[in-house]
This record gives sequence, structure tokens and C-alpha cells, in this order.
Amino acid sequence: MKIISRKLQDTDKIGQIIGENLIGGTVICLEGDLGAGKTTLTQSIAKALNINDYVTSPTFTIIKEYNGRLKLYHMDAYRLESEDDMYDLGYDEYIYSNGVCIIEWASNIFNLIPKHAITITINIDYEKDIREFDIVGEGLQFETLKKGLENYENTWNRIC
Ligand SMILES: Nc1ncnc2c1ncn2[C@@H]1O[C@H](COP(=O)(O)OP(=O)(O)OP(=O)(O)O)[C@@H](O)[C@H]1O
Ligand SMILES: [Mg+2]
Repeated sequence: MKIISRKLQDTDKIGQIIGENLIGGTVICLEGDLGAGKTTLTQSIAKALNINDYVTSPTFTIIKEYNGRLKLYHMDAYRLESEDDMYDLGYDEYIYSNGVCIIEWASNIFNLIPKHAITITINIDYEKDIREFDIVGEGLQFETLKKGLENYENTWNRIC
């Protein structure tokens, strides 16, 4: 499904809906250029998971862990040299945990991404000054997110 974000508040709302509808064990892959809004979206998801810590980019640490309604493992594969490096950081334990994994630049470790993962690709349209979120997945968790986000399309867009 595709969703348009015209401003920061839209992305915040999208993140809030995703966060509220997340269940343990979900893996979300975030794709999109530098500055697309992957970390910004993650911050809003974290807020909705009742995480009070300020979520910052894990570019250098690769994996950061937060406690909320669910545990959040925020990862960034941008600087990884190889998939083995991710594996050495204990990746498997996070990915098959009861927490939620959000992975920026997941395509850098595509062999390590489980089949049930949900992928969100953020594309910026500079001409229209909008961001398009393309959300792809399958299964119950994806369908639940989709329902919540369809609601966003119908209500939030009308309110703004
Ligand atoms: N509608 C919007 N949605 C998300 N971010 C927006 C929006 N409009 C403006 N921005 C700005 O764009 C920037 C997005 O940066 P962010 O760090 O989230 O990108 P990123 O995809 O994580 O980049 P990187 O690949 O470097 O990690 C922020 O400065 C944010 O304030
Ligand atoms: Mg980022």
C-alpha cells in the first residue's frame, strides 16, 4: 500500500499508527535515500510504543535497544561491511525475539531478512515536496497495519 506524507506531522501520525498496531516479533525494513525519513519514522513508532528515551540514529552503533510496551531493536546496516558483521552482533537473537526490529538500510543485509518482514520504502518527490511511503508485506501483522493506515488515509488526511 502507498501513503503520502506532506509534512513531519504526517510522518509522525503514520509512525504512531504503526507503533500502536505492532505485535511482538515483527521485523520492519526501512528503505530510502539518506534523509528520506527512516529515523524520523522510527522515532514516532518508538513514541507509540511508550518508549520515553530519545531515539537517535544507530548508524555507528549498528544496534540500539529500547524498552517500551515492546522491546525495540533499532538497527542501521548502512555502515556494515558484510552480513557476517551483523551476525556477529547477535543479530539472530534480536530478529527472532518477542521484540520489534526496525532495520534501516535492510537491503544491505538482505540475506538475513526473514520472510515475514514488512518493508517500508520512503521516496521523496522533490517536485511535489512530498514523501511516499510504500509498505509491502503479508500476513496478519501486515493486514493489521494496513487497516490502521487505511484509517489514516480516510480520517487524518481530511482533518489536515
Ligand atoms: N514529511 C517528512 N517526513 C519525515 N521527515 C521529514 C519530513 N519533512 C521533513 N523531514 C526531515 O527530513 C529529515 C529526515 O532525516 P532522517 O534522519 O529521518 O532520515 P534517514 O532516512 O534516517 O536518513 P539516513 O539514511 O541518513 O539514516 C529530518 O531532518 C526531518 O525533519
Ligand atoms: Mg537514519
